[in-house]
Amino acid sequence: MPRVNRTAVLTLLIVSSSVFLLFQLYYYRKYVSKPGPYILSRTGHLTANDYQWQTVKKFLGLARHFRLPLFLADTAALTLLSHDALRRSDRLVHEPHCSFLCTGRPITSFALHANLWKYEPGFLLAAEQKGFELLELRGEDPRLASLDNLSGEEIPLHFLFRHHGHVIQVVFLYERSGNYLWHGELRFKSNTDRSFAPFKLLDYGRHAGSYDRPELVLTVLDGLDVRIPRNITRFLSEQQRARFLECRYRDARNFLQLYPEDSSPEALDFRRKVKSLLHSAARTLAHLNVPFWLSSGTCLGWFRQCSVISYSRDVDIGIFVEDFRSDIIAAFRDAGLSLKHKFGKVEDSLELSFLSDDVKLDVFFFYKDGDVVWNGGTQAKSGRKFKYIFPRFSLCWAELLELKVRVPCETLDYVTANYGAMWSVPVRSWDWKSSPSNVQENGVWPRAEWAELIQVY
Ligand SMILES: *[C@@H]1O[C@H](CO)[C@@H](O)[C@H](O)[C@H]1NC(C)=O
Ligand SMILES: *[C@@H]1O[C@H](CO)[C@@H](O)[C@H](O)[C@H]1NC(C)=O
Repeated sequence: MPRVNRTAVLTLLIVSSSVFLLFQLYYYRKYVSKPGPYILSRTGHLTANDYQWQTVKKFLGLARHFRLPLFLADTAALTLLSHDALRRSDRLVHEPHCSFLCTGRPITSFALHANLWKYEPGFLLAAEQKGFELLELRGEDPRLASLDNLSGEEIPLHFLFRHHGHVIQVVFLYERSGNYLWHGELRFKSNTDRSFAPFKLLDYGRHAGSYDRPELVLTVLDGLDVRIPRNITRFLSEQQRARFLECRYRDARNFLQLYPEDSSPEALDFRRKVKSLLHSAARTLAHLNVPFWLSSGTCLGWFRQCSVISYSRDVDIGIFVEDFRSDIIAAFRDAGLSLKHKFGKVEDSLELSFLSDDVKLDVFFFYKDGDVVWNGGTQAKSGRKFKYIFPRFSLCWAELLELKVRVPCETLDYVTANYGAMWSVPVRSWDWKSSPSNVQENGVWPRAEWAELIQVY
């Protein structure tokens, strides 16, 4: 009997420990091995952060399956990451922590390189099956809009996926002819559900935006594979100033019906030269990290006719004087633009003129003064000074001659200040000392300083 008992006890022990082992295995599989940073949180309740991580994980799984060319564009998450870059060595891979994706915000934003993705209806269906609610926002395709063709086809601009109250925004970035990426403004249609997401909190869509193509790297964030911009600081600073203005094609076409474009060989030649000059100036100044914008007649040309004014004979750009660098002249010279004149000084009325292929590039430096901004003018033969006053403005991106350039966002105010309310009527005889609406006499340079302040080459 004792022998039988021992066998029975042994069997019982083996069975019970196997069951226990199986239970442990089951428990491990179900809870512990699931790579979640919070599952063993002390309270056992899922917080908003947990839902955020869950939703992002679920979405990234879906995106991977459908090969969405995505990158993380969320400003809050990228800011956390850029701060962390300083103490990267402390980041412990084996101790999961939702440090970056759990921003505590109700939205996480991603950007999608739309030219690299083929729209698949199956994707949206799969998203729904995974429990996502979807809002798709479409708008006109500006790449088709031009002076000849105003009605662009509608394309997807933004996707919003909602799950457990958390929203994933997917911003579509399209390649534009000026070799940059563009996203559209998020516009409600009459049937849009305005309670779908906290729209005011979205990082993208308040305005259209434009970006240089960012270099991306694949990384692991909070246990998830995500692509991010390699230089986060650059991306975030670009994001702050990304607002893009589309040219007013409709108004431009009306203008050109009244005043047809000069299509003489000389005018075509001038436009070709202006394009080459602008591209070269933009490249040079970008290299120096000096922002500039289209000013005077060049700005008017973009605003009024989405082109250059062929009888204007020169190109005008503006630069804030605090962005002046003494190596600008040498950099332009290296790019094949010779200095024609230099008027004024950094403290007052600085103006540079360059020549390339017999087209003049005027570089006006602008001075901020209270609620106005002004630039100066100098008459070489008399030493007389002039001042052109503009209301304060911010800078936006735009496209001219297949180039991404800045223009004052408040373009109408800028143009009106300079050319008056009649800016939409071409004026061929223009005197820079008296014609502009905003010109003021500003004294005379002291004779003794002419040699330094009035340099003509
Ligand atoms: C104008 O736009 C429509 C709609 O996108 C397009 O189908 C058509 O080909 C375009 N026409 C020209 C001349 O570009
Ligand atoms: C990132 O971009 C910023 C701003 O453009 C630049 O100053 C910095 O050198 C870049 N960092 C790296 C590592 O390239």
